[in-house]
Parts: sequence; structure tokens; C-alpha cells
Amino acid sequence: MNTINTIQDFRIWREKVSGSIGFVPTMGALHKGHLSLVEASNNTCQHTVVSIYLNPAQFSLGEDLNTYPKNLINDLEKLSKYDIGAIFLPTDLEMYPLNYSTYVNESKLSKVLEGKSRQSFFRGVTTVVAKLFNIICPTHAFFGEKDAQQLLIIKKMVLDLAYNIQIISCPIIREDSGLSMSSRNIYLSNKMKKSACIINNALGSAKQLLLSGERDSQTIRENIINVLKQERKLKIDYVSVADGESLNEILGEIQNQILVSTAVFIGKTRLIDNFSFSLSTNK
Ligand code: PAJ
Repeated sequence: MNTINTIQDFRIWREKVSGSIGFVPTMGALHKGHLSLVEASNNTCQHTVVSIYLNPAQFSLGEDLNTYPKNLINDLEKLSKYDIGAIFLPTDLEMYPLNYSTYVNESKLSKVLEGKSRQSFFRGVTTVVAKLFNIICPTHAFFGEKDAQQLLIIKKMVLDLAYNIQIISCPIIREDSGLSMSSRNIYLSNKMKKSACIINNALGSAKQLLLSGERDSQTIRENIINVLKQERKLKIDYVSVADGESLNEILGEIQNQILVSTAVFIGKTRLIDNFSFSLSTNK
């Protein structure tokens, strides 16, 4: 596998490659969700680049940077099944050299939901993704709907900063139980995993309400909260029914496209999940 650790070496590789380049940024501990993005890139682009970089700038003090799962050998083994031009594996010093002082900050969409609960998270994400975009110079970049707010913010950054990159969104990949795949699921015991299934059940029940014509945002929120509360081990961080573009919380009647999302704690593990719903297509 062609693994590259420095910006300089990556640029030497990049200069030799022409045509469409699909980029899949990751933080490693790869699972089928990540691999679905690689597959989408393989199906869309002539070349695929994957980055594995655990970005310290998107973790706040007290979050799980130090315990975040790492397994590079496993990751490379999984990626070996795909057609990958280069795997970019920078060090912290490569990405944030001494005296690093420039950050990219989206200032509206980043303020709500995950941004409220995780201070400086999106500043870290937009900074690292902007830098990776400048290094990789892809034509396309692939992001999962699992992190719906991140996806929206990256799309906004690309628009605002005029990156010539097509952002492709890929559907959430779930375990058979319905639990959305996440590198952090590794923290969960089997019992906790069972408890975590209620997240998908709660969102599924809200979707059924929407499909049956319910349009009151508070009814949808309360429905999700009531289902989640059935699992006593789970602590709700937020349940949101927001406008799908502005991410403003909807107070009354639902209109247009919405993002229904939640973040919960099971023990110390924070899990997020969501679905989008459009009134015009009723799905
Ligand atoms: P990470 O959590 O490793 O996720 C990398 C990509 O995989 C993201 O686009 C994420 O949405 C997608 N992904 C994760 N789980 C998924 C699932 N179950 N189904 C579909 N896609 C899934 O997101 C990050 O890393 C970082 O913030 C990053 C963008 C790499 C910047 O550091």
C-alpha cells in the first residue's frame, strides 16, 4: 500500500496523478461506514486517497482523544481490499507544526447541536479538512451522513471559501441491530450495545409519525425523548428537530426539509444519530 507521511512526499505523488481524485478523510479505527465512503469514491473517481489522522484540534480537554481507538495495521488491512492510490498518514507535527496559529471557523452552523455540546469541535474539523483539501487537492470528497452537521458545515466551507471540490454525501451504515456504526462503538459492552439500539428505535418511531402526517415539531421531539427514556442507562444530551439547511430549531409546524438528530451518553460514551426528512418527497 502506498502510505505517505509528509506533505512534501504527498505533493510529489499528486503531481504525477491526473483525472478525478476522490478523497476520504478519516480518523482511523475503520469500520464499514468508512469503507462505504471508500467504495463510493472507487465507483466515482479514477483515484482514491484516504487520510487517517486523529486530529487533536477537534477534541476538547476531557474528551476521549487519548483513548480514541487506534489500529493502523487493521485499518491498512481493511483498505487493502480497495483500489487506493495513496493513504495519507501525517504526524501531528506535520499538520500542526510548532507555532501553528491559523484556524478555519464556520460561524453559524457550528454554533448549534454538536457545536453547543462540544466547544471548538467544528473549528478543529474545518481547520483540518481545509488543510487536508489543500494538501490532497481532490476533485471529490466523501463524507458520511452519520455526521450530518459536519457534512453541512463542510459543504458550507467549500462554498464560502470557493474550494473546487464536489462534496458527496453517503448514507449511514448500521449494524444489523440498527445501531449506527461508529469507531466509538468499541467502547460499548454487549449490554450497552443492546441499550444503544433504542436510539435507532426512537428515530424510527419519529420517522413513522412524520410518514403518517404528524407535522408538530414538539410532538416529534417528545416522541423521541419518551422512547429514549425507556432505556434507563441512557442519558440524553439533546434531541433536535431542526431546519435541514439553517439547522435552526423548529418551534412550531414542520416545513420543507428537516434534520432530526440526537446525542446520548451510554456510560461515558457519547453516541450521535440522525435522519433527514423532506416534506416534498415524504421521505
Ligand atoms: P471519522 O469519525 O473517522 O469519520 C470519517 C468519515 O466517515 C466521516 O465522513 C463520517 O461521517 C463517516 N462515517 C462514520 N461512521 C459512518 C457510518 N456509520 N456510516 C457512514 N459514514 C460514516 O468524521 C471524522 O472522522 C473527522 O471529523 C474528519 C472529517 C476525518 C476530520 O478529522
